[in-house]
Amino acid sequence: MRSMHSSLKNHRVLLAPVVLLIASLSLLQRPASAEKKSYVVYLGGHSHGREGAVLASNQERAKNSHYRFLGSVLGSKEKAQDAIFYSYTKHINGFAATLEEEEAMEISKHPSVISVFPNRAHKLHTTRSWEFLGMEKGGRVKPNSIWAKARFGQGVIIGNLDTGVWPEAGSFDDDGMGPVPARWRGVCQNQVRCNRKLIGAQYFNKGYLATLAGEAAASPATARDTDGHGTHTLSTAAGRFVPGANLFGYGNGTAKGGAPGAHVAAYKVCWHPRAGSECADADILAAFDAAIHDGVDVLSVSLGTSPVDYFREGVAIGSFHAVMNGIAVVASAGNAGPRAGTVSNTAPWLFTVAASTMDREFPAYVVFANHSRRIKGQSLSPDRLPDNKHYPLISSEEAKATNATAQQARFCMEGSLDKTKVEGKIVVCMRGKAPRVEKGQSVHRAGGVGLVLANDEATGNEMIADAHVLPATHVTYSDGVELLAYIEATTFASGYITSPNTALETKPAPFMAAFSSQGPNIVTPQILKPDITAPGVSILAAFTGLVGPTSLPFDSRRVLFNSESGTSMSCPHVSGIAGLLKALHPDWSPAAIKSAIMTTARVQDNTRKPMSNSSFLRATPFGYGAGHVQPNRAADPGLVYDMGAADYLGFLCSLGYNSSVIETFMGDDHRTNTPHACTARRRPKPEDLNYPSIAVPHLSPSGKPLAVSRRVRNVGAGPASYGVRVDEPRGVSVSVRPARLEFAAAGEEKEFAVTFRARQGLYLPGEYVFGRMAWSDAAGRHHVRSPLVVRVGRGTAS
Ligand SMILES: *[C@@H]1O[C@H](CO)[C@@H](O)[C@H](O)[C@H]1NC(C)=O
Ligand SMILES: *[C@@H]1O[C@H](CO)[C@@H](O)[C@H](O)[C@H]1NC(C)=O
Ligand SMILES: *[C@@H]1O[C@H](CO)[C@@H](O)[C@H](O)[C@H]1NC(C)=O
Ligand SMILES: *[C@@H]1O[C@H](CO)[C@@H](O)[C@H](O)[C@H]1NC(C)=O
Ligand SMILES: *[C@@H]1O[C@H](CO)[C@@H](O)[C@H](O)[C@H]1NC(C)=O
Repeated sequence: MRSMHSSLKNHRVLLAPVVLLIASLSLLQRPASAEKKSYVVYLGGHSHGREGAVLASNQERAKNSHYRFLGSVLGSKEKAQDAIFYSYTKHINGFAATLEEEEAMEISKHPSVISVFPNRAHKLHTTRSWEFLGMEKGGRVKPNSIWAKARFGQGVIIGNLDTGVWPEAGSFDDDGMGPVPARWRGVCQNQVRCNRKLIGAQYFNKGYLATLAGEAAASPATARDTDGHGTHTLSTAAGRFVPGANLFGYGNGTAKGGAPGAHVAAYKVCWHPRAGSECADADILAAFDAAIHDGVDVLSVSLGTSPVDYFREGVAIGSFHAVMNGIAVVASAGNAGPRAGTVSNTAPWLFTVAASTMDREFPAYVVFANHSRRIKGQSLSPDRLPDNKHYPLISSEEAKATNATAQQARFCMEGSLDKTKVEGKIVVCMRGKAPRVEKGQSVHRAGGVGLVLANDEATGNEMIADAHVLPATHVTYSDGVELLAYIEATTFASGYITSPNTALETKPAPFMAAFSSQGPNIVTPQILKPDITAPGVSILAAFTGLVGPTSLPFDSRRVLFNSESGTSMSCPHVSGIAGLLKALHPDWSPAAIKSAIMTTARVQDNTRKPMSNSSFLRATPFGYGAGHVQPNRAADPGLVYDMGAADYLGFLCSLGYNSSVIETFMGDDHRTNTPHACTARRRPKPEDLNYPSIAVPHLSPSGKPLAVSRRVRNVGAGPASYGVRVDEPRGVSVSVRPARLEFAAAGEEKEFAVTFRARQGLYLPGEYVFGRMAWSDAAGRHHVRSPLVVRVGRGTAS
């Protein structure tokens, strides 16, 4: 994972401390020349985005109101003009400015301000995956597939917020594409030539430049992708068919994205991800504001920060306004797993995607010299050891340089290995947190001929195929233990590494990636996150021509396609599928699209056993949400749990926002026509948001029932009758009333209540337990499934 939610390097370095404004403000005994920092001031919504001629003057007025407002705090309009580097004037109301802490605090007290927060950095969190998802067979599109039904997403526009785009990639060729949709209002900036496929390319860097990192690293002002991540994610979402795509010959086949017929637009908000990936809140908000205005249908966001309150963070705010404008926003869950409570992008209007494997592997074996054992690992290294010649095997700890610590040597950090011990040998390194490919480079520099990368306990069986710079393979934890024991027990342990090949229809698949961030949702535990899982391990997709496949400075190789892993890679799979659903059902809301994908997901693997996590232990909805995406089924879900503005406002009310604040969120236009019942006397519960999954984090141990309300809309062809079936979580009784829903016509909506009760003497206090609820129609054609997640009591740690 390089940056973003791709390799373990990026959507995982998300643990930057959340600098709460309040906390920092209590330390105000500072000299008068206080340091200035950049902040986002969020004022809610407005809708100056789409009215044509009136637009410009309205936006000008909004901008002036920001100057006036900040001017009243800073003393003059001129000072305000100097301080503000973004005015959000289209759909998002607010601005980004360079301010002193005291000024920021004063602004935050103003009644029209929803939040003021530091402009922080977010991290960036193929050829086979679509066949694995059942949309083609042996390179042929299946006639009943969602691809055929949705005409590959023709007419839909998918955007991403990422590192930009490499427009020369074959995935963005426009041969045979239809015209640019007339409603499109986006543009292509410096150095990017657009066509009928790639219809937008804009960059946003003022927020990045306003941070210290920005000052240190000037970047060319262009949406061109200097990293590769954005090209990879955008082509995964909607790249066109490119035959003969492969990485060093591996995984050869026709590359394509989820919605190959859709148009795409790149919004570059991440700069220098290889030096620590910086995607600033202020730039993210500017990109959302532009994308809403431009007319995208789906936004794919493979980046995130540590979980934080919704209105103190760019992705949650930007996506709120996008969803209110009918745009589906799909985001990566993060790569901070397998620890519990690490999932990010948790807002209920986001569609949050975890990562799992598919049935393709790139096996490369470690063979012991006495042929007692062949250990299977995975690799995409183009270099091969001459077969049948054995090389000495050594553990990296044994090869420690005198000036390095045992820990550094264990993980093969740069400069930690002794050349005299490593020369000509195959070195076994532990995986740890540093980028996997860098360990290969350390071994290579120290004169080693091969690398075996061994997992630690937490990463278990998750093997990732990387484009290593020397012959290499990545083995499981238990195999790594065995290999080290062999080295330990044998006087002259030796062996070799076979060169990788491409294996298809491997089993079991999918299983959850250990790096994939896990629930519970620590911001609002009543909303289960992540929502879904999709392929995110060893995904082959288009790449930039500016860096090598490892993205490391020493990698001078150049490739057209690259294999990457991360929730950054699973997210655009779901974005592409959302685009197909938008083409198929143009009137569906973002919530209906999300519901269709969630309620048709499966939780079994290709051996018909429950999906497992990387250690082949039980995986749960905290890993995979509703399950593994099944696009063809999502096309015809039977029922949907829909949500609109009133539902989200009710949810905000349940979190404690009062009606005047809620009106601010909506902006002028929606204010009058979005009814919401938010009063001190009548507040809904967060559990009551009409979500396609149900999480009850605090069920009373006394046996007192808790009822959660839901409603479903019939999106089938005509009248339908559905009955419910429940797999109860352990120690919890669940009853659904009514237990049968009769729909007289398509489009009808019906309500029901799900009541939970702890079973005395049987429940597990403080522990999360999991169940399922499914509505099935009489013909057995539709099964509308929801995960149930319940905890009795409050839990030991919270
Ligand atoms: C990839 O497959 C295509 C079609 O089967 C073939 O023509 C091409 O030579 C293959 N390329 C590699 C590098 O194997
Ligand atoms: C140990 O010394 C070598 C040679 O001076 C240097 O290249 C290397 O970076 C040092 N290693 C560590 C871990 O400091
Ligand atoms: C190979 O080496 C291992 C470890 O030294 C030993 O346990 C095993 O018996 C050997 N197998 C053969 C076939 O010699
Ligand atoms: C996954 O496996 C690990 C062991 O490596 C275990 O601790 C964890 O609980 C499992 N996670 C889930 C969600 O089952
Ligand atoms: C709503 O909440 C805001 C911020 O907490 C507060 O300033 C305002 O007075 C409240 N309004 C009402 C009508 O309660």
